[in-house]
Amino acid sequence: MKWKQQLFGMKAYQPGKPIEEVKKLFGLDEVIKLASNENPFGSSPKVRQFLQAQQSNHAIYPDGYAQSLRTSLANFYCVEEKELILGNGSDDLIAIITRALLYPGVNTVMADLSFSQYWHNADIEGAEVRKVPLKEGVHDLDAMLAAIDDKTSVVWVCNPNNPTGTIVTDEALSAFLTKVPKDVFVVLDEAYIEYVNDKTYKDTLHYFREYPNLILLRTFSKAYGLASFRVGYGIAQAEVIAKLDPVRAPFNNTVLSQQVAQIALQDQEFIASCREANEIGKKQYVAFCERHGLNYFPSQTNFIMFEVKADSNVVFEEMMKRGFIIRSGAALGLEGYIRVTIGTEAQNAKFLQLLEDVLTEQGVFA
Ligand SMILES: Cc1ncc(COP(=O)(O)O)c(C=O)c1O
Repeated sequence: MKWKQQLFGMKAYQPGKPIEEVKKLFGLDEVIKLASNENPFGSSPKVRQFLQAQQSNHAIYPDGYAQSLRTSLANFYCVEEKELILGNGSDDLIAIITRALLYPGVNTVMADLSFSQYWHNADIEGAEVRKVPLKEGVHDLDAMLAAIDDKTSVVWVCNPNNPTGTIVTDEALSAFLTKVPKDVFVVLDEAYIEYVNDKTYKDTLHYFREYPNLILLRTFSKAYGLASFRVGYGIAQAEVIAKLDPVRAPFNNTVLSQQVAQIALQDQEFIASCREANEIGKKQYVAFCERHGLNYFPSQTNFIMFEVKADSNVVFEEMMKRGFIIRSGAALGLEGYIRVTIGTEAQNAKFLQLLEDVLTEQGVFA
């Protein structure tokens, strides 16, 4: 068969082991997943109430335009409905953007380390991937600019960045955007934006009005706690949305997904309370790292990446045996580190206590 050459040797995205499998594997009653940056507090109680009472007709296709959710998002952000695109998670939007703008002969610029789906999708389309090393854990926007040439089609800025959790300053971002050539599409992936707590952080929404070559990506999977429903969205000028929309699958958000996202969006109190709890949790990890002299990246998200001074895969395995699923730094491109989703206060305390045991066993702590 005439498979795309790029697919040979390519692996599917490797998600962590499911909770039930880990329970069975290690004979555990409880397993806590702190691997995929989901919300440990779940979603708005209003979503739960709605789901208990809902009686949709499941035989009918969803509204392909997600009109009701679209109107809510447009009102929430004070943007036009035609300035929005809905995705089956922002993963879907990354794939749509890639399919629309990347092909053999062009290149795409991104940070290293950053979110794997940028290069995974670019590889499938046969575009050249240009990875620009982070500078002290943060996007090196000057070096990314220098990597752009007349064959560059898309540049990805993951802000805050996964897996380091760091943000670029508004000053740096603003200077970068003025210098990116107008025919290069800028993706500002803000999957974790609701968690940002840096006092110097400035809202980025206005950038899409100033730059016709920019899209902002956001998601209901993280702070909104709706990862299983798969809803992400992009905000860009209407001309950009009109170009991307034909690439989108016709019914890419289910009936229920549209409904729960709309309900969750209205409950900003829940988001604020999760952000607060996340700050408390983050402090638990930071205190642990400082007490033990372990490097960590200053996180503006609901996860933190820090040094373990041991083989990341071993720490990952040992924590899994003890009932915690995390991400090994080796899998994310930084051996000797782990990435942990910030859980509830109790989960974090238990995790850190067990991690202390593991790192003592590994000879890291005396
Ligand atoms: C930076 C970033 N972008 C996008 C996504 C995709 O999220 P979703 O497809 O659930 O919206 C993730 C998920 O981990 C992420 O970390």
